[in-house]
Amino acid sequence: MKILGQKSNRTSMQIQFGKSLRNTSTIHFGHLASHIDTWKHLCAFGKCLIITDSNTDQFCKPILQRAIPDLRFHSVTIPAGEQSKQIDTCVRIWNTMAHLQLGRNDLVILLGGGVVGDLGGFCAATFKRGLPFVMIPTTLLSMADSSIGAKLGVDLQGLKNMVGVFALPTDVFIDPVFLQTLPEHELKSGMAEVLKHAAIGRRQAISEQLFSTKTNEAEWLQLLIDTTAVKARIVKKDPTEKGLRKLLNFGHTVGHAIETALMHTSTPISHGHAIAIGMVIELDIAQIHSNWAIELRKLIRNHYDFSPINNLDPKTLLTFMQNDKKKTGNEIMLSLPAQRSFSLLEVPIQELKW
Ligand SMILES: NC(=O)c1ccc[n+]([C@@H]2O[C@H](COP(=O)([O-])OP(=O)(O)OC[C@H]3O[C@@H](n4cnc5c(N)ncnc54)[C@H](O)[C@@H]3O)[C@@H](O)[C@H]2O)c1
Repeated sequence: MKILGQKSNRTSMQIQFGKSLRNTSTIHFGHLASHIDTWKHLCAFGKCLIITDSNTDQFCKPILQRAIPDLRFHSVTIPAGEQSKQIDTCVRIWNTMAHLQLGRNDLVILLGGGVVGDLGGFCAATFKRGLPFVMIPTTLLSMADSSIGAKLGVDLQGLKNMVGVFALPTDVFIDPVFLQTLPEHELKSGMAEVLKHAAIGRRQAISEQLFSTKTNEAEWLQLLIDTTAVKARIVKKDPTEKGLRKLLNFGHTVGHAIETALMHTSTPISHGHAIAIGMVIELDIAQIHSNWAIELRKLIRNHYDFSPINNLDPKTLLTFMQNDKKKTGNEIMLSLPAQRSFSLLEVPIQELKW
């Protein structure tokens, strides 16, 4: 993957996978309507299917329609939430695609958070061996993280992201207008991935300022450009996670296990909330006490509730972690940022405690 360049007005960034994937992806920042030339090109595709969830259908689709009035589309809506991120939902979407007789000259638009993006992208990338698709992320988490980097998939047997593919959208549109209707706890969930990227490549940004109220879209936009640039630089070097990209799993080995363990209880927590707690536990296991790590622990403890993990048994979490895709041999590995930015520290763990 290579970043082809960034326009001087910093409104778009182009990413290209090398030999491993054929697509090029352009990330457009700012109002949807300000990228009208791209939309004209997209509107010239044959049929268009928009995938939403029950919330983005209500809050985000009208914004898209107002911004791009010429867009003609069919739509399919899935129930909101992680519970939808499973193969049964894909079958429903594939059936809709088959019913509409979609082909490779048609277009799929994913309008939603990480669930719509991961699942809808997986459906598009696998139907008839791949339809072109566009992502319009509508949560902070999906703008800052999941819409960048081509990982798509669904959960299986209660385990996160067990089935999936790497495939790039043709375009990603990051427009902070959608954040206006996003509930506060979802903003906080997305902020966990912003913190993770800061820990990896923008340590000077780890401060209370990240959580200060953003008064306008320009402030959000700047934050999103800075944070996605960290991820794009890493994915560019290692698109299919052979090495360096594992850095982006900081907090996720423990975090995914927490998210999975709580998923079907009366107190499920969001992906970002689980990752935030996961980052603190992983820093403690690896005994990283640099200034940035101390500041990060403090921020997370101030802003995220740790009580949901009080009743979790570390042994149960270790069992979930046995299924982690990053496991090598019999060892469960944690991926942590080392002293220098952009260098990976892999720490084996046998025992989990907090
Ligand atoms: N592919 C990747 O690289 C990657 C990276 C990180 C996370 N993920 C995945 O992303 C998922 C989490 O993403 P998420 O936090 O966006 O969850 P989500 O898609 O479930 O969205 C969270 C909630 O916000 C609602 N929502 C979305 N946009 C809204 C808006 N503008 N206004 C009001 N409500 C809105 C949704 O309906 C949902 O209820 C997880 O499945 C995780 O595994 C993937």
